[in-house]
Amino acid sequence: MARDGAVFICQACGATAAKWTGQCPACSAWNSLVEEVTSRPPGALAPARGAKPRGLAFEGLASETAAPARLITGLDEFDRVCGGGVAPGSALLIAGDPGVGKSTLLLQVCAAAAQRGAACAYVSGEEAVDQIRGRAARMGLSAAPVRLAAETSLRDIVDGLKREPLDLVVIDSVQTLWSDMHEAGPGSVTQVRACAGELVRLAKRRGVAMLLVGHVTKDGQVAGPRVVEHMVDAVLSFEGERGYPFRVLRGVKNRFGATDEIGVFEMGDAGLREVRNPSALFLGEGGERAAGSVVFAGVEGSRPVLVEFQALVAPSAYGTPRRAVVGWDSGRLAMILAVLEARCGLGFGARDVYLNVAGGLKVTEPAADLAAAAALVSSATGAALPQDCVVFGEISLSGDVRPVSRTEMRLKEAVKLGFSRALAPVQGAAEAAGVRQLGVARLVDATARIEGQAWDETAR
Ligand code: TYD
Ligand code: MG
Repeated sequence: MARDGAVFICQACGATAAKWTGQCPACSAWNSLVEEVTSRPPGALAPARGAKPRGLAFEGLASETAAPARLITGLDEFDRVCGGGVAPGSALLIAGDPGVGKSTLLLQVCAAAAQRGAACAYVSGEEAVDQIRGRAARMGLSAAPVRLAAETSLRDIVDGLKREPLDLVVIDSVQTLWSDMHEAGPGSVTQVRACAGELVRLAKRRGVAMLLVGHVTKDGQVAGPRVVEHMVDAVLSFEGERGYPFRVLRGVKNRFGATDEIGVFEMGDAGLREVRNPSALFLGEGGERAAGSVVFAGVEGSRPVLVEFQALVAPSAYGTPRRAVVGWDSGRLAMILAVLEARCGLGFGARDVYLNVAGGLKVTEPAADLAAAAALVSSATGAALPQDCVVFGEISLSGDVRPVSRTEMRLKEAVKLGFSRALAPVQGAAEAAGVRQLGVARLVDATARIEGQAWDETAR
């Protein structure tokens, strides 16, 4: 049993238990229960003497006063993912792996907003003031009127923030904060929950936009961000593959805007550079396209993005063939392989299959099915697709190629980047000047086109 006033809290999901077990009963994580003292000041729950309940004051849905204007930070890629700037009084969590560039991004957000006249503060619990100054100097941001502080005590931070009228506050990171109201160590679920809760309340009360940084690791080892997700208005995840300079900011939850928006950045010597035309970046250099390489015309949020799918199908050296995929869902790959086998008679049983989305982008759209299938077939047969051809379409288990949304946007972007053919679903075809649609109703039609190099008839 736990000591008085202590409970066991799962560091992965935040569930509480009265006694320790090796596996969390709620989320089945192993070895994640840690004893934490959740001491409350004595009598904190008891109502103050003489206090009367105030009851609920109901309001109508329509408001007479206009919503307060969004705070535009001036970093366009960031503003767009937030849904057109940050709402005053809202709290955002920016989550990502350590080292992905969260501190860099938020320092730039802070500096950009400060240069536009907003009162901005950057509070770091991870780095010393001199370290941040050095980074700001390297990034050419020293002149921005940002209020900088290095502090980890919640009491001091809240006290300091109350004294100054601020528009935007960055807290880097929630895992480093500690509140003296709780005995648990910094980074524990109790501390992270308490500190984030306090800061979110402060944001609402004073109309400050609060940007909280949270570290997560792939296996969810670090406590915190999961429990914070429920408290904040928006969760933005900052992602990047190791070895690539590209970073993608993606909305995971947003009470003020759409969640499928992405912001693309490139990490360089002077911080993050906004990438306004991601297609050109993810496609890389033009040139001869080899077998197994296919350009997918995708859409991320409100923007079209062309990206290259690369497949390699090779004889397997071992009994169990390998399936490896980067930037796409492995379950989806298994499904496409099964459909190719069952509906098109192409066997991958004794062959290794590798699929890679170039540039480090993670593609989640079902519209990428046909691009992945085309890359696989092209690699397996050694027949390359034409240089000027983009591919998109969803594949069903029956082997049909289904129409996808925003066809016109995909085609327009393809034309803009010099493509003139599109291997796409027959139904739902939209017109776009300058691009010829090679319609396919079933996956076999697509494989027949690739194998037979039939790139001239419009429909099959
Ligand atoms: P950082 O913002 O500290 O990551 P996080 O806060 O998410 O842990 O940035 C980490 C990496 O970014 C670091 O390895 C160095 C690199 N970096 C650059 O390449 N260029 C730069 O201008 C800056 C500031 C950082
Ligand atoms: Mg950092």
